[in-house]
Amino acid sequence: MSASSEATSSGALARAIGVDDIRNLARRRLPKFIFDYLDGGADDEYTRRQNSRSFNALSLIQRVLVDVDSVDTSTTILGMQTSVPFVLSSTGASRFYHSEGEMAAARAAAKANVIYGTTSSAMYSLEDVASVGDAPRFFQVYVFKDRAVTKDYVMRCRSSGYDAMFLTVDCATAGNRERDIRNQLAIPPKITLRAIWHLLNAPGWSMDYLTSQAWSFPNVDGYVDESTKGDFNTAAEWFAGQLDRSFAWDDAEALCKDWGGQFVIKGITSVEDAKIAVSIGATGIVVSNHGGRQLDHAPTTLEVLPEIIDVVGDKVEVLVDSGYRRGTDVIKALALGAKGVLLGKAYLYGLGAGGEAGVSRVIEILKSELERNMMLMGLQSISQITSDCVRWRDPGFLR
Ligand SMILES: Cc1cc2nc3c(=O)[nH]c(=O)nc-3n(C[C@H](O)[C@H](O)[C@H](O)COP(=O)(O)O)c2cc1C
Repeated sequence: MSASSEATSSGALARAIGVDDIRNLARRRLPKFIFDYLDGGADDEYTRRQNSRSFNALSLIQRVLVDVDSVDTSTTILGMQTSVPFVLSSTGASRFYHSEGEMAAARAAAKANVIYGTTSSAMYSLEDVASVGDAPRFFQVYVFKDRAVTKDYVMRCRSSGYDAMFLTVDCATAGNRERDIRNQLAIPPKITLRAIWHLLNAPGWSMDYLTSQAWSFPNVDGYVDESTKGDFNTAAEWFAGQLDRSFAWDDAEALCKDWGGQFVIKGITSVEDAKIAVSIGATGIVVSNHGGRQLDHAPTTLEVLPEIIDVVGDKVEVLVDSGYRRGTDVIKALALGAKGVLLGKAYLYGLGAGGEAGVSRVIEILKSELERNMMLMGLQSISQITSDCVRWRDPGFLR
């Protein structure tokens, strides 16, 4: 059996102990140019690396001799009931990692009662994703030059029963992902010698790619020329041409009013922006540096979370993401006042390693880490995770 097909077996997934093991399985199954697109960050990838390291700055306070015979990880985020305080975040184009893409992630999330977010650049339509059970879900938009498109998404999400709308605001332009440039990343893959080499080293993925339906962006099909509907390149060009750099707070406010439900601004790292988000009527924000994929040297979320919570924590739900890979990471964010944590790469590694089963395994690993660590800390429920559960280490510790 080849290394790459073995990675998708249930045995290999079951043997994976932590998210890092799942990452290794994904690295073995995916062609290098796809793995690097998933895993990489902007410029020197300083922020991407610091995201995970920053958790070392906090220690967890252990309380003992508490009855933790039963531990409950369920909670409510933006009015949505969920079995865990982590969410599978919107991460476009998920068929890059597995032919079942967003559907696989949505199914794994629904089975575990975990919130899942899809996006305008998804490779399954928002209606198809909504057809997966009645699990809590959100839709993430960018604002397009053609405002009628964004308005149309609002209507479609309403009639498909989406529980929340997220607006991502940290992508005024694409981050400079040097791994992608070095790999001459082209989507769909261009037949260069380098690409052939990557594909030959990923036979399981290549077979899946060649035998499944051609890639497309169905959420965009209604807005492109009828004759080029379903064509990947047309849709990709449409995206590139539609991203609106002149989009500003008043447009965000209009969208928030138009949607009228739970409305979350994703990609905030400053107190000032958090205050504006509150003033335009957002019901939530995501403190995020986009997993280190956009502005390199943006702060890690732990650096700014406390000051943002201080100022707006009683006015909106504050969620957080970027670098979360362990149950203990999630506990630290909640202890600083976040209502929930979004996962990006962690679950995409699962999708790349083994489709729906891989995503389910990541959810299972993180949930059991959370339960185990809550028991070790003497915590019976999520509401008991407070600022008393952590302390900052001496700054000298990190040097
Ligand atoms: C491959 C990839 C694609 C992403 N695509 C989107 C997207 O389309 N929209 C969005 O709001 N965020 C997107 N993100 C960012 C995630 O939603 C999330 O903010 C980020 O991944 C969190 O950091 P982490 O990957 O370290 O968990 C993407 C992230 C990755 C890794």
